[in-house]
This record gives sequence, structure tokens and C-alpha cells, in this order.
Amino acid sequence: MTAWDSLAARRTGIPVFAPGHVWLAGAGPGDPGLLTLDALAGLAQADIVIHDALVDQRVLALAGPQARLEFAGKRGGKPSALQTDISERLIALARAGNRVLRLKGGDPFVFGRGGEEAMTLARGGVPFRIIPGVTAGLAALAAAGIPATLRGINRAVVFAAGHGAEEDFDWAPLARTGQPIVLYMVMHNLERITAAMLQAGIVGSTPAAVIVAATTPKQRVLVSTLERLAGDARAQKLEPPAIVVIGEIVKLRDDLLGAAISAKVSE
Ligand SMILES: C[S@@+](CC[C@H](N)C(=O)[O-])C[C@H]1O[C@@H](n2cnc3c(N)ncnc32)[C@H](O)[C@@H]1O
Repeated sequence: MTAWDSLAARRTGIPVFAPGHVWLAGAGPGDPGLLTLDALAGLAQADIVIHDALVDQRVLALAGPQARLEFAGKRGGKPSALQTDISERLIALARAGNRVLRLKGGDPFVFGRGGEEAMTLARGGVPFRIIPGVTAGLAALAAAGIPATLRGINRAVVFAAGHGAEEDFDWAPLARTGQPIVLYMVMHNLERITAAMLQAGIVGSTPAAVIVAATTPKQRVLVSTLERLAGDARAQKLEPPAIVVIGEIVKLRDDLLGAAISAKVSE
């Protein structure tokens, strides 16, 4: 029995993928167990799956036998499809009568340009559905044993991108909140951003962690402090994709896993 047969047998109200529609779905951080049932329904019914680089092969393997897989990835520094080309392709495929699953890593609306794609579909009059996904910022923390919130420690979590058009982003207002900061797409700028955060007033001994390839067999966790994080990550040769978290919540990993806060990489 396929995953789809099993889902169809157990669940009522499975959305039907109509020809000419686009589903803009989150694939989660990697582990196929973190895929939503609606995303699985999309994979099973789609005629074509247009996916990003960070969508795990184990997730793509759940596509139905009729589905054609098409890569439309964007990776920093490497040749990548233009956003306008991707959006136009979605529209053209839908107008040709295909069931088009646009599958993006994590959640499609969190640092994933899903908002732009949805707006283009709306403007083009193409019917579409948004399927949320488990975003890497939350999944990586949970997978590393770091609670995103804990009563008495924090009341908010800041999600920020370490890479963007405005490279002179002012970190001081975020630092002043005293709340943990979770950073996406930060590895290439880690030195500069951690320095900016120290400058913005975050104490150098604040616990910090890098979680690489969360929820995949390649997951690695580095626990350090803000002032040592960039050097430790370089020494350990940590590469994207990674989530960085800065804040007292990182210390809780100690209690959960019994690990000391020192520059240490664990599986
Ligand atoms: C373009 S953003 C897409 C974010 C995605 N839409 C989400 O909600 O997770 C790509 C960044 O997400 C983070 N990321 C995605 N998957 C990850 C994973 N399995 N482990 C750690 N970080 C991940 C990394 O910071 C990576 O550079």
C-alpha cells in the first residue's frame, strides 16, 4: 500500500487537485515524516512537481508515478532559475490543464518567495491553494532539543534572514528585545552578523547554536556562544543549510540532552 492509499483509506476530506490548479505547498525541513497530509495529497495527485533545491529526495520519492519532477531551485552563488521565470512557468503549466504542485522547503511563506509566486498566480487569474509547511526555524530548534519558547525564559521569538537586499540591516532594535533570534540563510555572513549583534549590545557569552541540515541524516549541532560562534562554525567547516539561534533558550538543550555548553558538534 502506498502512503497515498493509506492516507486515502484513513482520512476524509482529502482535497481534490483539479486540473489547471496550482498548489503552493511546504515540504518541511527534510524528514518526510514532517510533511503535512495535504502536501502528501498534492504529491500523490500532481501531474507536475516543481521543487526547490532544499526539498528532500525522500519527499520527492512520494510523488505519484504520473508526476513529472522539475527542478526550479535557487541556491546562493549558483546558477538559479529567475523568480519571474518560475512564476510564469507555473501559470503556463496550469493554463495547459496540469495539476501543478509547487513544492518549497519548509513553509512556502517563510523566506521562500512563496508570497511573490502566490501574488503572480492571483494576478494571472490561476486558481491556487496554499499548503503550510513546518518551517526550518522551528523544526531545527526542536530537532536539536532547544525549545523555541519556555515560560520564564522568553515571550517571543524573532525570525530573521541573514541574507537580503539590505545588507546594512539594523540589528539593534531586534537585539534590544532580549528575545531569542533565529536566523535563516546566515552562514555566509555569520562573522559580520554576529559582530553586528555584539555591537548592538547582545552579551558575548549569550548561548548560541548552529543546526545544520536539521531533520536529515546529515544533521549536526554546534553549541557555542555569540562571541565564539563564527570561529567555531568555521573550524568545524559547517555549511548551509543551517539555522542559527542566539539566546538563553539554547542553554535548555543542556537540561534536555545533558550536554555541556561548549564548542561541540553532535549528531
Ligand atoms: C530560502 S530559505 C527557505 C526557508 C523555508 N521556506 C522554511 O520555511 O524553512 C533557506 C534557508 O532555510 C534554512 N533551512 C532550510 N532547511 C533547513 C534544514 N533542514 N536545516 C537547517 N536549515 C534549513 C537555511 O537557513 C536555508 O539557508
